[in-house]
Amino acid sequence: MDARKGTGGKKARRGRRLGVITKGSLVEGLEMKLDPAQNIEDMKAGKFAIIEGEKNDFFSMVTDMRLDATNPEILLHPPAQDDDLLRQVLSGTSTYNIVSLRPMLMMPKAAGDDEGPRPVKAIPSHFSLVQEAEEEDVERIFGKEGDPEGRYFSLGTPLDMETQVCIDMVRFAERSNGIFGKTGTGKSFLTRLALCGLIHFERAVNLIFDMHNEYGFRAMKETGGRGTSFVKGLKQLFGDKVAIFSLDPKSTRARGIQPDFEVCISYDQIAVEDIAPLQDELKLNPTAVESAYLVYAIYKEKWLRTLLSLEGPDVEAFAEEIGAHAGSLVALHRKLKRLENFPFMVSKLHDADAVDRIMEYLDRGINVVLEFGQQTSMLCYLLVANIIARRIHEMYVKKSERFYATQRVEDQPRQLMITIEEAHKFLNPVAAKQTIFGTIAREMRKYYVSLLIVDQRPSGIDDEVLSQIGTRITALLNDEKDIQAVLTGVSGTEGLRSVLASLDSKQQALVIGHAVPMPVVIKTREYGPQFYRELGCLDELGEEERKAKVQKDIQALFGES
Ligand SMILES: Nc1ncnc2c1ncn2[C@@H]1O[C@H](COP(=O)(O)OP(=O)(O)OP(=O)(O)O)[C@@H](O)[C@H]1O
Ligand SMILES: [Mg+2]
Repeated sequence: MDARKGTGGKKARRGRRLGVITKGSLVEGLEMKLDPAQNIEDMKAGKFAIIEGEKNDFFSMVTDMRLDATNPEILLHPPAQDDDLLRQVLSGTSTYNIVSLRPMLMMPKAAGDDEGPRPVKAIPSHFSLVQEAEEEDVERIFGKEGDPEGRYFSLGTPLDMETQVCIDMVRFAERSNGIFGKTGTGKSFLTRLALCGLIHFERAVNLIFDMHNEYGFRAMKETGGRGTSFVKGLKQLFGDKVAIFSLDPKSTRARGIQPDFEVCISYDQIAVEDIAPLQDELKLNPTAVESAYLVYAIYKEKWLRTLLSLEGPDVEAFAEEIGAHAGSLVALHRKLKRLENFPFMVSKLHDADAVDRIMEYLDRGINVVLEFGQQTSMLCYLLVANIIARRIHEMYVKKSERFYATQRVEDQPRQLMITIEEAHKFLNPVAAKQTIFGTIAREMRKYYVSLLIVDQRPSGIDDEVLSQIGTRITALLNDEKDIQAVLTGVSGTEGLRSVLASLDSKQQALVIGHAVPMPVVIKTREYGPQFYRELGCLDELGEEERKAKVQKDIQALFGES
């Protein structure tokens, strides 16, 4: 049963009375006069409130607040600082506070059991009562973790409340999603949470291009100068459901884990399409890419190997031989030589093809984290992610077409979600037309592949791609362009700008889109021991917790010193 159902006319128990509606419109939102008993400082942007209309409850978000006075004269003669009495006399009558509310969803009060929340198409009348939401309101809208279908996964709690806000994992897995926020706001933590939800409820199998080695096995947690602490990676939480592939096995081992597969890439696996998106990183001009196509036309998949086997002076003669522009080919040759420095590049594969191996794992429903180890250059990340994603996507297209032809349940591909960081590098307006990631974002989920894009500069992402993103989880952004980008293609977001810009700098996020019935600001769920336990991933204390506990016990015995 869908948890988000009407209550059959049952009146919900409500929280504190906040005020009454005095003004507003459907387009611009509503204004509430704050009750004198309420402190304006408790009204935070992003807070969840309910307006009780006559026929509907309007689930709303606080977007702004303002101080006002009935008579401007009063403001010219403010009470003295210590004149509390006068202040109290004025408060609520002559001086008052206005809070802007944006209704996001309305729920008919007398609805039958099958009627759930719906988009706002009406407004409540004058003096409708506004109240704080209660646990059961939040649950009614966002569902509750532990539902029999396993749809709902809690990402956090509303501001000033302890209830969980859940996202619908089925809907989350259905589309490409984005996690945004400026640096240090908790994107990687949010991504880990979302991935845990997908893996735990088996809503999608994941391929994660883990540039900073923070998803597979153990990740650092900032402690504000109070030593170092670590959180668990997906492998530690989900064991056999997660495989770690490594481009830099030495670094992976040094961090205490044996990779399941050591990834090498041979020159013959690199297509011209994989080089084209590197134009920025390699500073290639378009004619250089055209020359690459000329080499490819003759040498096919051996094109790169052939080109790199030439010594500098021979390239010009080679250009003449194949009819390419000598200058461009020389430049291309010189720049592609950089690829030879990558330790994972080999002329011949000794082991299995990494992409085939990734596909085998994904087919078995095992999530793959590809660690880059010390290979953290953007060039490396773009190159490898492109090569692998392009071929995985090809395989998925084939699988999906077979399924469309046979229509047999057993042929239906598993939904795949590919996580990429620094997404604007793959999805800026130029790259989005060239990279496989642009294709995946645009074709939606026709071929059962979607993206989880993590980025601190959403304004760098192509508009068309942004408009295809189903659910956006956004931590604090300051740049006006980035804020605008995150709200691209979402209707009814007026007022959310101020909310986004006023989030805390850590562990708060605005969730909008396909997986939630209405936009909501959350305090992000704490990713730590309690979460591991709630997920049922940890039956006993893990190593770090045990250490922490011992340390705490020692402290308790001997004091801080
Ligand atoms: N859900 C959470 N649970 C626990 N700690 C969190 C959570 N979210 C954020 N933090 C804290 O905030 C810090 C920064 O988070 P995180 O590393 O995810 O930021 P980021 O946005 O990925 O930054 P960058 O852009 O530099 O990668 C973490 O080290 C941690 O201390
Ligand atoms: Mg990060």
